[in-house]
Amino acid sequence: MGDELLNLTIDGVPVRVPKGTLVIEAAKQAGVLVPHYCYHPGLPVVGVCRMCLVEIEKAPKLQIACATQAAEGMVVRTQSPQAKSGRMGVLELLLINHPLDCPICDQAGECELQDFTFQEGRPATRYSPQYAKRFNPVEDFGPDVLYVPNRCILCTRCVRFMEDVAQEPVLNVSERGDRAYIGIHSEGRLDHPWAGNVVDLCPVGSLLSKDFLHKARAWELDKTASICTGCSQGCNVTLDTRENVVVRVRPRSNLEVNRFFICDHGRMNYRWMNRGDRIEAPLVRRGGELHATDWDEALDFVASRLRGAGGQAVALVSPKVSTEALFFARELFRGLEWSGAFQVVMGEEAPLAGVPNLALRAERAPNARGAELLGYSREYAAAVAAAETAAVVLVLDEPDIAVRTAGALIYVGTVLPERARDAQAVLPIANVAEEEGTYVNRDGRVQRYFQAKSAPGMARPAWWVFSELVATLGGGQGGGHVGTAAEAFDRLAVSVEAFRGLSYARLGFAGAPMPATAAVPA
Ligand code: SF4
Ligand code: SF4
Ligand code: FES
Repeated sequence: MGDELLNLTIDGVPVRVPKGTLVIEAAKQAGVLVPHYCYHPGLPVVGVCRMCLVEIEKAPKLQIACATQAAEGMVVRTQSPQAKSGRMGVLELLLINHPLDCPICDQAGECELQDFTFQEGRPATRYSPQYAKRFNPVEDFGPDVLYVPNRCILCTRCVRFMEDVAQEPVLNVSERGDRAYIGIHSEGRLDHPWAGNVVDLCPVGSLLSKDFLHKARAWELDKTASICTGCSQGCNVTLDTRENVVVRVRPRSNLEVNRFFICDHGRMNYRWMNRGDRIEAPLVRRGGELHATDWDEALDFVASRLRGAGGQAVALVSPKVSTEALFFARELFRGLEWSGAFQVVMGEEAPLAGVPNLALRAERAPNARGAELLGYSREYAAAVAAAETAAVVLVLDEPDIAVRTAGALIYVGTVLPERARDAQAVLPIANVAEEEGTYVNRDGRVQRYFQAKSAPGMARPAWWVFSELVATLGGGQGGGHVGTAAEAFDRLAVSVEAFRGLSYARLGFAGAPMPATAAVPA
């Protein structure tokens, strides 16, 4: 796409777009969504469905908006009688063999065939009720994908994703005409690490996730912007919740990080957010046993242990907690001799071949970079060894904790691991789905996640717990009570050079590179 700008009008709205822009994209700038099926901005253009027909002045017949480039002075009409009648004909053709499955189809409520038929299809069929629609049985395409051929509109998005983006061409269009269907290679499976994206790309309910099958109707779901915790890539996702339970994870587009896709590891990495064995109240040790208490007593109890601590303090933290929490945990030890460390589970790297710099990363944690920036090291074994003789050991949501200490162990977490049952105090915190916060991905991009469901019992965001402790102790650059996650981030941004100038407002839904990182590549 060049620098040259072109002027055109779409449905009477003037727009200015760079040379090379497709009419369907230019229309978005005019606030017009041209109905379409085969077109997707993350896939090569093929122009096979003909759903995006529009009228272009001086053109002898209707044109497809997905394969026509904008031109200077072009006048496009998407709502003219000719354009609407052309698209109505396409819909009628698509519906000849499409079953009336909506009441039992997972896609209902978010189906583009349903939406466009409602918007501009024929009010009734011209086919006889006796017409026998095509029937093919459901096929098992892979670990998490079912293919329902009766619903397929042959847009080929799935074929193009596997061929051009995943670069593992296991799907094709088999047969021709009204017998055509999506075929899978006789020895192939949709088991590529990024194969689940075909379910999101399918505009109808033809490719379905087994994991989500019949779990919820689309209109029952609440949608929340979040960040995947599966690895250090930091893909933008949407958490779908139903009655306070996360039931599905889907990609949220971010052209700088994950374009339109997420890997299957990240997609399936949500059940732990719904765990039932959570710590629901603060616990303090009295008479040799842990007793449930309120926050006031718990915070006073922990503050008194920290006040009395002489000698070394050790913080063992999880790289899955927010940057804000890691900041206030560090501030807690200001003035003390302390060391902090985290450990990262490693796995196999799985790139998405057709998208540069997008891979399921070997480092399976979302905030290792944030932890490093705040002074925590990767020397986890050394920190565990130092904990044996430390006066205070804090462990921040570290379920694999292997610590032994003669000092005071304060455990702040979502669930209580066996090894932390010796703790002097246990403080319950929210998980990523239950709070607002930020992570820093491997490329130094700071990204926000939002609250999707409520936290159990008395659990609170970790940034709140530590900021209250800092305020109780009256120390650190994070001193004073903090009311919101945005305020917690502001304290971090004024205290830590790498975050300077950033704020929740500036990060928005897409995140931003750290000022320091922008100049120094990771
Ligand atoms: S299965 Fe879905 S994505 Fe694939 S061709 Fe059919 S309608 Fe399109
Ligand atoms: S690549 Fe990493 S961040 Fe992206 S979806 Fe997969 S696990 Fe999540
Ligand atoms: S979206 Fe344009 S032809 Fe399919």
